[in-house]
Parts: sequence; structure tokens; C-alpha cells
Amino acid sequence: MAVRRILRLGDPVLREVSTEVPENELASKELKKLIRDMYDTMDNNDGAGLAAPQIGVQKRIFVVSIDQGSDQPGIRKVYINPVLKHLTDVKDSNWEGCLSIPGMRGLVERPRKIQISYFDEKQEKREDIVEGFEAIVLQHEFDHLDGILYVDRLKDTRLFGYNEELNGSDR
Ligand code: NI
Repeated sequence: MAVRRILRLGDPVLREVSTEVPENELASKELKKLIRDMYDTMDNNDGAGLAAPQIGVQKRIFVVSIDQGSDQPGIRKVYINPVLKHLTDVKDSNWEGCLSIPGMRGLVERPRKIQISYFDEKQEKREDIVEGFEAIVLQHEFDHLDGILYVDRLKDTRLFGYNEELNGSDR
């Protein structure tokens, strides 16, 4: 198990565009180790997703782990060289957080339905159509690969703040 340090907002590496993993590296030991470290780091921080640049590796890879309640299996997947397409102009608002901006969250609007194609951990090419919370998480993580953070997408900076204070204002 290797939990890596997560870069935080302000670190210039988070703002860079990551590069694709060459196809001849998809099966490499180094890539497998990186993916394991990403899962370990995400789990250790109770995240729903983590992108490679968040641990300082500028490759187009992210992992997600989404709990879907006790009656459904969770989603736990790695996306390598993902390509994302919006399938609707209809948008949903969600409160997003990010392991690179700990303790805070903000309201962000994103398209409700997307298509994502990618390589999985077995080097197989896959294509999924995704809606709802999973689509939000995938778009958030995908943004990291292009150096974009959710704070760039805030519609109203007043709907952004520290979790504790926002929780207090709900009362
Ligand atoms: Ni994030």
C-alpha cells in the first residue's frame, strides 16, 4: 500500500494538461503500480475519485469509487486515456468537493448525460453512457487531466465555502 501526497490548489502541476499513456505502456508494471497507488490514496482520503495529476503524475488516468447504497454494487474503476462527450445540454447542479481543495465545496453545473470511452485495467477499450452522480464525478475527474478544477466552473462564488460553515448555514 502506498498512499501518495495529494497536491493542493495553488500547485502549478494541477494546472497543466496531462499527456496520454502510450499504448505500449498500458500493460506495464509501472502503470499497474501507479493505479494501485491512486486507489490507495483515494481510499485513504475517502474520495470518490482521484486523477493522476493530483499526485503529481501528468498522465491521462483517473480512478473512481462510488458507493451506490447497500442494494447496489459500488462503482470502482480506472479510466485510462478517456475521451468524454456530452450527450445533452440539460445540466444538473451538484455540490462538488475535491481532495486538492480539502474541507471546501461549491455548487457546479454540468451536463447530465455523457459518453466516455477509455482503456480499462485489462487494456481493453470500453465505452459507457453515464448519467447522474457518476457522470458528475467522471466529468470532475476528467477536468483534472486538462488542468481544470471545479472552482473554475463555479456559477456563483457565493455558493462556495468551507464545509463546516456551509453545514451551519443549512440549519
Ligand atoms: Ni478533484
